[in-house]
Amino acid sequence: MQFSQTMSQSAYVNNVIQIHRPQVYLEIGVATGRTLFSPPFPPLSIGVDPAFSSTVPQTEQGTIMVFKMTSDEMFDKGIIDETLSGRHIDLAFIDGMHLCEYVMRDFINTVARCRKGSLILIHDMFPKSIEHASRERTQDVWTGDVYRFGVALMRYNPGFPIAFIGDTAGTGMALVRVVDPTLRFAVTPEEMTQFMLSLPPQQGVPILRKHALSVKSKTHILFLANQLKARRV
Ligand SMILES: C[S@@+](CC[C@H](N)C(=O)[O-])C[C@H]1O[C@@H](n2cnc3c(N)ncnc32)[C@H](O)[C@@H]1O
Repeated sequence: MQFSQTMSQSAYVNNVIQIHRPQVYLEIGVATGRTLFSPPFPPLSIGVDPAFSSTVPQTEQGTIMVFKMTSDEMFDKGIIDETLSGRHIDLAFIDGMHLCEYVMRDFINTVARCRKGSLILIHDMFPKSIEHASRERTQDVWTGDVYRFGVALMRYNPGFPIAFIGDTAGTGMALVRVVDPTLRFAVTPEEMTQFMLSLPPQQGVPILRKHALSVKSKTHILFLANQLKARRV
């Protein structure tokens, strides 16, 4: 494993793909494909982004498909299930609309299509300023209020092992091990949204930061190793 404290989020995700070797990888929010179109290529990579305007590269190592639509559309219209055709999502990178209720839906919809030992990565947990964390995008670097979902995940966690990493380039990541894909939140999405939106701006970020691991830490490496072990059992 070659994790470094200065690596970009793309390099981080591609390192995890290399270790985890998912059969199916899902990326919500593709942009230009900096992460999705970089090796290693799993047998099936699925991307979704309503503003996608690049060309999907061909690779002999795997199939890459990108749906030009919102993730809600892809899930609600059954497009993901048609594409999976009985397979499961082994690794997901949630990096689409940076508003907490969107991230919550992306997470819930993704977990429902995971299997034991799947891993979900959620980008943008650590806004560096109030402007980064704003629900309105006012500048190029924008984490939105994804951190609010991080706080809700800790509060309502039905039993997923969760870790946060804060020292890759960019704005930090949450890692969720799907030890049991049937686990569900005990609150409704509406209740969770109400809780998230009641948090004052950036409240909870210091708590998440307190839990954040370094990418080079043994605990982080062990977290990924345990997830791999769970897949083999
Ligand atoms: C930060 S970029 C993604 C970067 C990409 N994951 C990477 O690693 O290079 C966020 C992307 O999310 C897309 N997006 C916005 N709303 C979305 C939605 N509802 N569903 C899926 N993607 C969305 C945007 O169009 C944008 O391209």
